[in-house]
Formats: sequence, C-alpha cells, structure tokens
Amino acid sequence: EKVVLAYSGGLDTTAIIPWLKETYGYDVICACIDVGQESELEGLDERAKYSGAEKLYIIDVVDELCDEYIMPTVQADAVYENKYLLGTSFARPIIAKKLVEVARKEGAVAICHGATGKGNDQLRFELSIKALAPDIKVIATWRQPEWTMQSREDEIAFCKAHGIDLPFDAKHSYSRDRNIWHISHEGLELENPANEPNYDDLLVLSVTPEKAPDEPEYIDLDFEKGYPVALNGKKMKTSDIIRELNKLGGKHGIGIIDIVENRVVGMKSRGVYETPGGTILTEAHKQLEELTLDRDTMEYKKLVGTKFAALVYEGKWFCTLRESLSAFVAKTEERVTGHVKMKLYKGNIIKAGTTSDYTLYSESLASFTTGDLYDHKDASGFINLFGLSMKVRAMMDQKREEK
Ligand code: ARG
Ligand code: SIN
Repeated sequence: EKVVLAYSGGLDTTAIIPWLKETYGYDVICACIDVGQESELEGLDERAKYSGAEKLYIIDVVDELCDEYIMPTVQADAVYENKYLLGTSFARPIIAKKLVEVARKEGAVAICHGATGKGNDQLRFELSIKALAPDIKVIATWRQPEWTMQSREDEIAFCKAHGIDLPFDAKHSYSRDRNIWHISHEGLELENPANEPNYDDLLVLSVTPEKAPDEPEYIDLDFEKGYPVALNGKKMKTSDIIRELNKLGGKHGIGIIDIVENRVVGMKSRGVYETPGGTILTEAHKQLEELTLDRDTMEYKKLVGTKFAALVYEGKWFCTLRESLSAFVAKTEERVTGHVKMKLYKGNIIKAGTTSDYTLYSESLASFTTGDLYDHKDASGFINLFGLSMKVRAMMDQKREEK
C-alpha cells in the first residue's frame, strides 16, 4: 500500500520517510508542492529516493495559488484579527488538494503530513483532505503514538541509523513558513511577547524602516475586476506582480507585522510576518474599492471579510459558506477596475492618486454648490425623517420628567 507524504526536503519530512516504511510498511510517494517557498529544489529527487522514497513529485502551483486562493482572499478584504494577511492559511488547502490528486493518481490509501499537534496547519491539511477525499486516511506524524522522536537530534540519529547521512543542522532556528505571499516567523525570542524581535536575524524578505532608503519610490498598479494586471505600466501575470512588489516592498520596509494571534486550538501565539508585496497589493485594492463601491456594499463586505478570514484561518477553504461568500465577493469586484498610484517610504504606503472609469466619486456632487442632482433643501426633509425616532425618544423623556 502507498502513502503520499507532503515532503519539503528538510529534516522532519526526511526522517518521516524511513519511519513510515518501518512503522506501517507503506511505500512512500513524496510530493513537494511548490507554493513559492524558494527552497532548493535541485537534488530533491535524489534526496527523497536516497532517503527511501519510491518517487518524488514536484508540482508548481504558484499561479493557481495567486489567482484562485490569494486574490479571492484579497478581494474579500479578509484579514485575520485585523493584521494577519493569511499567508500560511490559504497555502494549506491548495497543498492538500495537490496531495489528494497525487494520491488518486498513485492509488494511495493515505496522506501523511508533518504539522505539529499544537498548531493550525494540522486543521487546514486535514479539513481540506476530508472535504476532497473523505475515504483517504490521514497520518498526522506528530500525533501518532508510534512517533517517538522529540528533537532534531533524535531525528538526525534516526536517519543515521537508517543509513541516511545528510548534512542536517542540529541548531534550532525560527519556525518559518514561506511562500510567494509571505514568510512567517515563530519561536525563539518571539515566544515571549515581552521581547523585541531580533529583526537583524529574523527578516528574510525585507529590512526594517530604519534601514530603508531615505528616498521614496512611486509605483502604480492597474486592476481589472479586482485582479492586478499591470505594474508600472507593464502587463504581468499576478504571480510576477507579487514577486516584483515583494522586492519593492521589502526594500522599503513595508508589511512587517508583529502579532499575538489566537490559534484555533485555543492558545495565543506570537509571530512576525513579512508580507511586503501582499501589503502593497492589499492597500492598493482597498484604495480602488473606496472609489468604486457604494456605502451599503462596503459595509456588508466588512462583515463578509471578517467571516471569510475566520474560515480561511480555520482551514475551511473547501466549505459551502466560503464558496458562497466568494461568489458574493466576485460580484462586488465587477467594477473594481482602475489605476492606483502610491509612494513607498520607510514602511509606509502613501496614497498618490487613484482613478477609475467606474468611480462613484463625483466632483460636482461633492463640491459645496447646489446643482441639478443635489439640492441642499432636500436634506431638510431627509434629516427630519432620519432622526425622527431619536427626536421622539427625547420628547417622551421630557414629558416624563415634567410629570
Ligand atoms: N500562525 C500562522 C498561521 O497559523 C503561521 C503558521 C506558520 N506555520 C508553520 N508551519 N511554521 O497561519
Ligand atoms: C505547526 O504546528 O506545524 C506550525 C504552527 C501552526 O500550524 O500554527
């Protein structure tokens, strides 16, 4: 029988290969899903096979991630706990989907992942697998009673005992998760919220605002129906725009957040996220919505965004509510087309002008003169009715006091 293992080439997932074979007698099919983590893919095939795997799949899903997971989340204005742009959260369902596809192709009976038993990732992997392939068994390595390794040293020793001698580092680093949208950092000094992050060791994609250039830089983005289509006048696909924005945002210290967040499993956890390009894209999209969405829709979208973020964070990407909310969001994006100019400067994104053929902003309406469309006098009747219930309450209060 076969098992599909979500494989990164790191120590944890390498040790899992001989462990799966020895513990359950499975043939191990490794699958490395490329979400833009920029890890060394060269030599990964030899490495997986050297460690005892039958086969390695490397599947590039970056464009699908950008257009079908990231952008729908941006369009929903979904941000978890007011800060977190969900970079790890939406990468899990697409990884799970690809693992299921490999499992089907190989006729595998199980899928194995290396997420810990204390985090959100286990939920996201397993809920997605349940939703897509209810018959497939999940092996959550760190929760299996047969998994006894507790440290990197244990795993290195286990690998060595199974003839796998690779140059693994026993040193403890941050727990990181990277993809095209962001990199997250947890662990080490961050585990105590009293500590300032050690930014010089920590940052990978960006610099702190202190180290950013003293000169600001202008950029402009074109959107069509809520999707970015060009950067600085050059047509590009979404993934290339995000990559380019990552460089620009990183250089100017944009999108570094430090948050104590509430995990689904009950604990608070402290993390630092770098989302340089994503922060710019999110801000630009918001500016365009300011111009093109009416008040009712904006207000309602806020509710939708909050719920959408919770669903994505909790790992419920493949659920009816998320799919339905996405249909609503797609409708709201039909007129989110236009041009956004911004200035990047030391961690800040400063508005430098937004235009749209679908703008609802009317200069003549907004200016202070009376025109055909708006007569100042119309406001009197409107205010009388709009405030009627408040006035009635006050009148009743007065009456009672007089008694
Ligand atoms: N706390 C973030 C989240 O739940 C990031 C998790 C990072 N995952 C990891 N395997 N290091 O989405
Ligand atoms: C993990 O537990 O594997 C990482 C942290 C998380 O999932 O929240």
